[in-house]
Amino acid sequence: MKVDGNIERFYQYSFPMQAVLVTCHDDEHNKTNVITVAWHTPISVDPPLYGISIAPKRYSHSIIEKSKEFVINFVPYHLVDKTHFCGTHSGRTVNKIKETELTLLSARRVKTPLIKECYAHLECKLFQSLKIGDHTFFVGQILSVEVDKELFKNDLLKIDKIQPLYYIGGNKYTTIDKTKKREF
Ligand SMILES: Cc1cc2nc3c(=O)[nH]c(=O)nc-3n(C[C@H](O)[C@H](O)[C@H](O)COP(=O)(O)O)c2cc1C
Repeated sequence: MKVDGNIERFYQYSFPMQAVLVTCHDDEHNKTNVITVAWHTPISVDPPLYGISIAPKRYSHSIIEKSKEFVINFVPYHLVDKTHFCGTHSGRTVNKIKETELTLLSARRVKTPLIKECYAHLECKLFQSLKIGDHTFFVGQILSVEVDKELFKNDLLKIDKIQPLYYIGGNKYTTIDKTKKREF
């Protein structure tokens, strides 16, 4: 039996979604910020494009508008506390890198650093910025990809070796059940 869902919370029906940490660099204050993002997606292969949907009130929104670049960092489950912190505090008032003790690494093709504790990184230059509804869809062109050597084979994640972090809405997170997998 189906019951009425809630249109205002339509997005909750698409959870769980992988939570990523997006880094961006505020040149004016010489400060790297990190925002937790669940609304993100691959868009195009050629050119390689990746999109993130960010609300205009976020500090990160103003940074990306100016710096025109960002880095997507894919997060292992064990960083759940730090990821939740980055998604519930604004870099306007808190230095999230300092508070979470996450480690920054220089990127290859952009000024914005990567987060060392994450297992894959997409270095993006802003390709297009679309104001859609109450969010801005920042489309990044991927200039470089770095991955943890031990965790990938033929560019595919070795799912037995890593537990990616998934967000299920509210204050809830999960990861995958490795016993449920098929290979065709
Ligand atoms: C799991 C999770 C996912 C989130 N996803 C998004 C998102 O996709 N887009 C967005 O604008 N905010 C998202 N947020 C909210 C921001 O991460 C949050 O407002 C953050 O404090 C903004 O930081 P900033 O002001 O330093 O940019 C999410 C929060 C959490 C906890």
